Amino acid sequence: MAFSAWLLIPLLAFFWLGADCLTVEGQNGSQIFLPCNLSHRKVSDILLTFGHFKAYGVKQHIHFRDRVDRNGSCNFILKDLKTTDAGKYTSTVKAEGYTYNNYYDVHINVKLAGQKGKELVLDCLPHETERVEHSTNTGSTRVWKYKEGVLTNRLTDKNGYLIIKNFTSDDTGTYRALNSTGGVLVTWTVTESMNGPSSEQSSGSSVTRVSWSVALLVASFVSVGLQI
Ligand SMILES: *[C@@H]1O[C@H](CO)[C@@H](O)[C@H](O)[C@H]1NC(C)=O
Ligand SMILES: *[C@@H]1O[C@H](CO)[C@@H](O)[C@H](O)[C@H]1NC(C)=O
Ligand SMILES: *[C@@H]1O[C@H](CO)[C@@H](O)[C@H](O)[C@H]1NC(C)=O
Ligand SMILES: *[C@@H]1O[C@H](CO)[C@@H](O)[C@H](O)[C@H]1NC(C)=O
Ligand SMILES: *[C@@H]1O[C@H](CO)[C@@H](O)[C@H](O)[C@H]1NC(C)=O
Repeated sequence: MAFSAWLLIPLLAFFWLGADCLTVEGQNGSQIFLPCNLSHRKVSDILLTFGHFKAYGVKQHIHFRDRVDRNGSCNFILKDLKTTDAGKYTSTVKAEGYTYNNYYDVHINVKLAGQKGKELVLDCLPHETERVEHSTNTGSTRVWKYKEGVLTNRLTDKNGYLIIKNFTSDDTGTYRALNSTGGVLVTWTVTESMNGPSSEQSSGSSVTRVSWSVALLVASFVSVGLQI
């Protein structure tokens, strides 16, 4: 009896958290609104965390610098969205002697158009990524896996960026970065550009930018490699 009760505690906690979790989706480069439901209360302290990182508050992580604004008493706006912003967020609000938590699952959507023979940069994977799947109307294939890396010769992994070297129409479709329970973190919708060169979306220049590396998946999440 006592044994089964112990088993129930984490289970109940799981459902309780799940019920309160809000899913928020945003397009790469745009902004999202993380609402909180305590706007009528006097807020004395507020914090937004992303894994072990502070997204807002004292010792804010550099990844979020100038990208998180408070809105109203305890809502947040996350601006200039990056694929690496996908995952779980918790806001902790202290108001009138009580502490409240709000939980958010953030999904990022990216639309990309590739040009035949050219390079197409999908971008960086969020740290919670367990696998990446490529779906077309003929089916779905796993193209990347945690600890194994790329599983297809269509893709390369350059400093954590997934890149299609020589784009063909077979590379179109949907790519999804999934977490360990199959939840979607990032969705890339890849089409083939029909008009000539110019598409800024397929610019390879971002490759040179130092950013979150997939190596972080293996290493500790707290790393010095994150400085931009
Ligand atoms: C996503 O948005 C960021 C910021 O606007 C940009 O630097 C990056 O290149 C974009 N990535 C893709 C794949 O469009
Ligand atoms: C706030 O309340 C609304 C309506 O009751 C609910 O849909 C939403 O998920 C809540 N937001 C959070 C962050 O819990
Ligand atoms: C809160 O966000 C809304 C929508 O983005 C905006 O219209 C409003 O001005 C913001 N309020 C504050 C105080 O920033
Ligand atoms: C890209 O693929 C096409 C067709 O598969 C091939 O003809 C071409 O040589 C390749 N280009 C590069 C730069 O690898
Ligand atoms: C995976 O993502 C889903 C959907 O966002 C979320 O509900 C779930 O809690 C996540 N799983 C883990 C282990 O974080």
